[in-house]
Amino acid sequence: MTIAQLAPLPLRHLRRGKVREVYVVDDDRLLLVATDRVSAFDVVMNEAIPYKGAVLTQITAWWLRQLEGDLHHHMLASEVDEIIDAVPALADHRATLAGRSMLCKRTDVFPVECVIRGYLSGSAWKEYKSSGTLAGEALAPDLRESERFEPPLFSPATKAETGHDENITPARVAEIIGPDSAAELERLSRLVYERGRDIAAERGIIIADTKFEFGRDGDGRITLIDEVLTPDSSRFWPAEHYQPGRPQPSFDKQPLRDYLDGERKAGRWNGDAPPPPLPEHVVEATSARYLDAYRRITGAPLDLEPSRRTPTEGAKRRREES
Ligand SMILES: Nc1ncnc2c1ncn2[C@@H]1O[C@H](COP(=O)(O)OP(=O)(O)OP(=O)(O)O)[C@@H](O)[C@H]1O
Ligand SMILES: [Mg+2]
Repeated sequence: MTIAQLAPLPLRHLRRGKVREVYVVDDDRLLLVATDRVSAFDVVMNEAIPYKGAVLTQITAWWLRQLEGDLHHHMLASEVDEIIDAVPALADHRATLAGRSMLCKRTDVFPVECVIRGYLSGSAWKEYKSSGTLAGEALAPDLRESERFEPPLFSPATKAETGHDENITPARVAEIIGPDSAAELERLSRLVYERGRDIAAERGIIIADTKFEFGRDGDGRITLIDEVLTPDSSRFWPAEHYQPGRPQPSFDKQPLRDYLDGERKAGRWNGDAPPPPLPEHVVEATSARYLDAYRRITGAPLDLEPSRRTPTEGAKRRREES
């Protein structure tokens, strides 16, 4: 089932992102549901991308299973049978939720976006090109666009409710949340990013940068939340085309961006909402990219019929993976 808009669920709707819907289960738990919506150039398209929501959720679930034992994370369940066992009120929504939903521990979210950059790109490249700095602090001279950083840069940002997030210095993070929490968020962000970058690189994907969010759980423990090392929270580049000194193609969204660029150049789109309609071949190519990202990272194809899976099969698969 491909979904742009979710039918109402019997839970309180807390928040709508560009792609995901967040619901309150109770004081301790949230349900995160990734739709198949896709955005490009900050505009959400009218068409949904088949399997995209499941790819995002299941990539996050896969990474969190790899990190089991290294840190606290928010995932309670990512398989629909387990979710329905835990929240029986969702039983009538199995087909809608399958694959794309994650039952999570609810946390108090730290008000900083923990961005880690392994390569110089995006807003960091823009600032560096104009002033040689990142969040006002000087970087080495003569860096090229898309150049690899070693070690990666911890490059936090504020969580802006409207408009674009603002890059801030690690010192500013310490002022906002206290030096101990700030140091721990940086340590965990580096740990997860470096692990992810290495695994993905072996599998043909450069994770150029990514954004993590953390919260405190009910016991006060610092907990990794939100989505983790997905194409939506990160820049994924095809490793075989990597060449510093220029922008890199996007592993997942390039067919979509190329199409939209063409529409813009032809004067058929001004770059703002509403977006132009997408032809079927662009939707299909984009879906194929997301499925390929999942397969490369996890080493196995995405289960395209997750609503059929039984909890025992899920448990078996997890045992085999670990
Ligand atoms: N375990 C959790 N506890 C509390 N809040 C969480 C947890 N996991 C994720 N969140 C919050 O859920 C929200 C998810 O929102 P989402 O990412 O879909 O949209 P957004 O951040 O508002 O916008 P965008 O679509 O641009 O990302 C974020 O505000 C995130 O902080
Ligand atoms: Mg978000």
